[in-house]
Amino acid sequence: MRLARTISTTPGWIQDEHYECDPNQGFGLHLLHEEEDHSLPVFLFSWLPGRGTPAHNHKTWGVVVGLDGEESEFLRERLDDGSKPGFADLKRVGERKLTVDTMSSFLGDDIHTVRNDGERTTLSLHTYGMHINYTGRTRFDPELKTASDYVVTVKD
Ligand SMILES: [Fe+2]
Repeated sequence: MRLARTISTTPGWIQDEHYECDPNQGFGLHLLHEEEDHSLPVFLFSWLPGRGTPAHNHKTWGVVVGLDGEESEFLRERLDDGSKPGFADLKRVGERKLTVDTMSSFLGDDIHTVRNDGERTTLSLHTYGMHINYTGRTRFDPELKTASDYVVTVKD
């Protein structure tokens, strides 16, 4: 990816603080830009080794490129119709790797889990249609078959 290689090789673009993670959630979000109405946010995500996200959707579109290291993405689909509050039945449908040479994109109802299986902190660049804490998105527990609100901690 030309964008990822340009960013990752341009001196001064990536700062040491961009690698800082929130140990409670296992990753860090660094907000680089958003419009006043919270649209078009751009985040740098940093991922601690062995950590990642719960299964979740975004309720907005997203485009992600890898900047440093490799991240694993596990794709899921919903088997139920979403009509029972707090309940979701998911099946795993695929897996892909995010590196500096690949990108990932998704629409609002797509569900995935992201994990850093490596031994050092990784970085990726995320652009969304709307700030992900303002979309009313959902996190899922595939084993317990539960669904709940998903809000993340963001560093400005
Ligand atoms: Fe995500």
